Amino acid sequence: MPTASDIKRASASAAAPQTRNWIAPAKVAVFIAMLYPLARIIVLGMTSGLGANPIEFLTRSTGLWTLVYLCITLAITPARRLTGVTALLRFRRMIGLYAFFFAVLHFTTYIWFDKWFDVAEMLKDIGKRPFITVGFAAFVLLIPLAVTSPKAMVRKLGRRWQTLHRTIYLIAVLAILHFWWMKAGKHDFELPKIYGAIVIALLGWRLIAWLRTRAARRRA
Ligand code: HEM
Repeated sequence: MPTASDIKRASASAAAPQTRNWIAPAKVAVFIAMLYPLARIIVLGMTSGLGANPIEFLTRSTGLWTLVYLCITLAITPARRLTGVTALLRFRRMIGLYAFFFAVLHFTTYIWFDKWFDVAEMLKDIGKRPFITVGFAAFVLLIPLAVTSPKAMVRKLGRRWQTLHRTIYLIAVLAILHFWWMKAGKHDFELPKIYGAIVIALLGWRLIAWLRTRAARRRA
């Protein structure tokens, strides 16, 4: 999620006409491309291609794409720093909201087809199965980030907005725990290891950047 200084830089790039030339079509292209997982589910659903267990397919596909979009959201700042392309920040809110959208689809699949909207049964599951507990915590923490994503909320909350949006790192850790625990029963850690490594690298990068800024401030 963007920091206040990131937003200032993004606004500055918004003023440059050469940036404006490509940013709008690129945003439309990214918006359409990110609909791919949903389009795939719809096409497979209409052609009986969801496999022997369509509910499992839906849950897993929406869960994995939530994680992918979370990782891309977290990668925007490092990518911007490494490439110097400030305009990348203009895509972050949209990608973050896509992560939330797929998390809503993931949760809806669970509460609808797994629990048939039985809230008591769902709460029992949350208390009983640790992988559901952390998944649910990650989902609940995503809600305030989605609600406060409009620019008006960034202005209204000021520094508190930045602090709130740092929970994205905690959400990513909870998502990895959720994935890891879910796969533990099947002793299948290949994908959780890959995504775990990506999240650790992104968090590590952020930590190093923070330590460097702090040291520079002290020197100043
Ligand atoms: C940010 C929030 C979440 C993320 C990133 C996430 C991610 C994932 C991932 C990556 C998988 C495994 C996909 C695969 O097998 O390839 C998964 C599976 C699953 N998740 Fe989530 N999840 C989240 C929230 C939730 C919530 C809120 C619930 C329910 C309360 C939930 C219930 C499940 C279930 C039931 C499965 C499938 C278990 C199975 O097939 O055995 N998840 N999730």
